[in-house]
Amino acid sequence: MTWQVLLLPGDGIGPEVLGAARPVMDVAARALEEAGGRGIRFTEAAVGGAAVDACGEPLPEETLRQAQEADAVLLGAVGGPRWDGLPPERRPEAGLLALRKALGVWANLRPVKTLPGQAASSPLRESAAARVDLLIVRELTGGLYFGRPRARERTAAGGARAVDTMEYTDAEIRRVAHVAFQAARARRRRVTSVDKANVLENSRLWREVVTEVAAAYPDVELEHQLVDSAAMRLVARPADYDVILTENLFGDILSDLAGGLLGGLGTLPSASLGDGRPGLYEPVHGSAPDIAGQDRANPAAAILSFALLCAHSLEAPWLAAEIEAAVAETMAEAAARGPWGTRETGRRVAARLEDRLAAPRYALLHRYNRRAAAGR
Ligand code: IPM
Ligand code: MG
Repeated sequence: MTWQVLLLPGDGIGPEVLGAARPVMDVAARALEEAGGRGIRFTEAAVGGAAVDACGEPLPEETLRQAQEADAVLLGAVGGPRWDGLPPERRPEAGLLALRKALGVWANLRPVKTLPGQAASSPLRESAAARVDLLIVRELTGGLYFGRPRARERTAAGGARAVDTMEYTDAEIRRVAHVAFQAARARRRRVTSVDKANVLENSRLWREVVTEVAAAYPDVELEHQLVDSAAMRLVARPADYDVILTENLFGDILSDLAGGLLGGLGTLPSASLGDGRPGLYEPVHGSAPDIAGQDRANPAAAILSFALLCAHSLEAPWLAAEIEAAVAETMAEAAARGPWGTRETGRRVAARLEDRLAAPRYALLHRYNRRAAAGR
């Protein structure tokens, strides 16, 4: 049996960053097999603008079927100016949102950590930038992104009126809160729940439920913060944050802000998880049409998203750790001697990963696993 991983390159720099990540994925797949585990079978399908061009809709039925049958899905990016004029339900972004909803991936984990050499390109003081290490836990299938009604209509006076609905149930808040507290236990045991409880009824429910969930985690410290002041404090004192728990739209905004602290989104990965299989993994950066096709995009976010995929969907946290280390080494070298283009960066990470996996400790582990498998 092999793991099934579906690749959805999408638009803009999506195909390039997934292409550059491919050598890393191939090294990882071989390593998994050598370790006595299951190999990986990669398949590919269309999503976003690419799918609109190919068959008129951003999430074709066939793509969704393949995604539902996979163990994990790795997505590049969707969107671009070419499709901006389409009706809302046929926009590339609608395909991504429909995919998240259909896979039921309601918890979006976005680790934000400064990589070697990166602090120098941060707008923060280098010493402050070097200490950024936080995890955003963003609710992903509720809130303003999905609430009904959602409409655009004409007013009696002949003007226009638009409605979006912010909607959460206590159950939706509770399950994602548990994810944040559990994640905090493996980190610095501090959760900052971000809301707008001084204005929004949704946020008052959010605060109530999160407080109630916190009682089950007496070893984790909880603080509540309003989203406006959280934005300010993220810039002023980013090292204060460990786990940030927040709803869909606030999480979208704060994760780009957190990327800005590192000088850009080029290295931010994400994992979206639900109750079962499969997980959906995507770089936080978008399709960046302005640099698409120029071999300039940083594939680190895509490669690190694949690392999260190994950890959460392929039962291989050890492999994830090695991929993360290979990316960190490559970024340190790039800061000193680079930068390299998209493809070259991918090749260098793959080479470093190969070196790391050739270490004697892995030879031992693999021999042990093979023996155990033979004895089974
Ligand atoms: C993100 C993106 C998406 C979102 C867009 C492309 C729909 O900005 O993953 O942060 O808003 O969730
Ligand atoms: Mg975003």
